[in-house]
Amino acid sequence: MRATVETHEMSPTLPPIKVRVSLGTEDLTIKMSDRGGGVPLRKIERLFSYMYSTAPSPVHEDNSRNAPLAGFGYGLPISRLYAKYFQGDLQLYSMEGYGTSAVIYLKALSSESVERLPVFNKSALRHYQTSIEADDWCMPSRDPKKLGNTKRIL
Ligand SMILES: Nc1ncnc2c1ncn2[C@@H]1O[C@H](COP(=O)(O)OP(=O)(O)O)[C@@H](O)[C@H]1O
Ligand SMILES: [Mg+2]
Repeated sequence: MRATVETHEMSPTLPPIKVRVSLGTEDLTIKMSDRGGGVPLRKIERLFSYMYSTAPSPVHEDNSRNAPLAGFGYGLPISRLYAKYFQGDLQLYSMEGYGTSAVIYLKALSSESVERLPVFNKSALRHYQTSIEADDWCMPSRDPKKLGNTKRIL
């Protein structure tokens, strides 16, 4: 919404943000498309960095009922983390000069959207110590493999 307003500052009308929700057999998908000018492909991954924001720093007012909505820089990374936690994802598709679509993928069945947790066992620790970046997510049905050792290590 901020992108829409800022891109169309001089315009008397604002292009609507279109939202489509689709329930399939496997996925529940929510797509939000704006015409807020978009973001170049090179910068897309950066938007998922915590604290990255192009909004002015929010002013903290003790007695204000209006909580700031942008400027903290964690809307996208936290939203993606939540989506991944429930076996889904959040992806951005942008066309610079036009607009952006944000797609949230969730599981259609609650039985499928089991929590996906980071691994903190002996085998994961080994990965964290190597220079090669490890995948810190696991499927609860498959990992961690050596659960019996976990207590001793921690
Ligand atoms: N729909 C969008 N169109 C253009 N830029 C966007 C859009 N969504 C996010 N961004 C960019 O990504 C940055 C980070 O977004 P976010 O993590 O939600 O933090 P915040 O909203 O606090 O800035 C924003 O500051 C903005 O520059
Ligand atoms: Mg935001």
